Amino acid sequence: MMIPLSEFQQRRQQLLQQLEATGTKAVAVVAAAQLQTRSRDTEYPFRQDSDFYYLTGFNEPNALLVLAPHAEHPVQLFCQPNDALAETWQGRRLGIERAVAELGVDYCASIDDVHTHLIKLLDGVERVYHHHQHDALTHQLHAVAAELRTAPKRGFQAPVGWIDLQPWLADMRMIKSANELNVMREAARISVLGHQRAMRFAQPNRYEYQVAAEIHHEFAMHGALAPAYNTICGSGENACILHYTDNCAQLQDGELLLIDAGAEYQGYAGDITRTFPVNGRFAPYQRDLYNVVLAAQEAALATLKPGSDIQTALLAAGKALTEGLLELGILQGSYADLLAEQAYRRFMIHGLGHWLGLDVHDVGTYSQAGKNRPFEPGMVLTIEPGVYIPHGMTGVAEQWHGIGIRIEDNVIITASGYENMTAAAPKTVAEIEQWMKQ
Ligand code: GLY
Ligand code: MN
Ligand code: MN
Repeated sequence: MMIPLSEFQQRRQQLLQQLEATGTKAVAVVAAAQLQTRSRDTEYPFRQDSDFYYLTGFNEPNALLVLAPHAEHPVQLFCQPNDALAETWQGRRLGIERAVAELGVDYCASIDDVHTHLIKLLDGVERVYHHHQHDALTHQLHAVAAELRTAPKRGFQAPVGWIDLQPWLADMRMIKSANELNVMREAARISVLGHQRAMRFAQPNRYEYQVAAEIHHEFAMHGALAPAYNTICGSGENACILHYTDNCAQLQDGELLLIDAGAEYQGYAGDITRTFPVNGRFAPYQRDLYNVVLAAQEAALATLKPGSDIQTALLAAGKALTEGLLELGILQGSYADLLAEQAYRRFMIHGLGHWLGLDVHDVGTYSQAGKNRPFEPGMVLTIEPGVYIPHGMTGVAEQWHGIGIRIEDNVIITASGYENMTAAAPKTVAEIEQWMKQ
């Protein structure tokens, strides 16, 4: 399961066409990610910039892609040249010649010479499209422009328009191709396996970080080299910390464990949350609250189809949460009033879901012309309602304190509705208890 070279080429062609369609002389410049220092002279594992990866499939730092429709070679890559000594210390490099052959670019040269090349590529260009949030790239491009400005007598002409490239790429990445969907189904499948393993492994006295290690082991055994984001294993009240990643507590009998973990496969993210009892059996009050969140998730899922939107899904989830919380006495008052004032929002401060793709919180706008963006086939998103009641929450009976529940699945919008890619992760009370008994 791979994205074929032809698809990367197609994406670059589309951007070249968009540049041409501006009716100006325009280029796009996209930079690779840089290694980040972890401590002194060791680095974090390298993770490519998602947009750079989307356009090249190339996984090395110190690289730059230039798309210049007017140039003799419209697709140019600058990367690290082969260097026996550097490769002995730091790892293999694709190198200049193989980059042309394997990445299908028109021209490749050493990143060491990129400044000289950029002087030529940007001279006489009106607009430069690039990522404004990439400080190093912006700095580099402005240095090129400054040099062009100082030499008008040599006939140089510096660009005048600096435009953010991000919105174009966000629009392209928003609708996933058939190949991307297959890769994402695999990311989802591996993520499910991680959760299944966690449910088998968890038991009182084990540690949250040990559960996380089991999940990462399972990911690796199926070809996913890293989690797509920092794994969250929150037992007991830790589940109420939305991005809890300390994962240092010991699991206690009688507690719930919330796991939010997803595999990264071929650059694409899975993002699943399951919440289950450490000892394998829901206490009645845990089961009741769990079923409220589950009903909210099912209500939200049922709304998903082309033309609908995330707000419609949230409305359905909000109704189910209000109803359920009212029934359990966690909310008190009239259903209509509570719904109107969105009282459930006290228990779920995060959004219902987000786009999913190369980034776990993937790019793409959520509104269009002041309205919620309607779903289209090929969009991928998460649906993840939750209820969190930390200790000390006023107005809620103490029996509920210290409990956090979230249920998260990954869905594709299809022509007729949706496909839940992560449905195989045990989710109902019966499924979870059955699975944990094994
Ligand atoms: N794992 C982050 C999120 O669910 O949004
Ligand atoms: Mn998540
Ligand atoms: Mn999520």
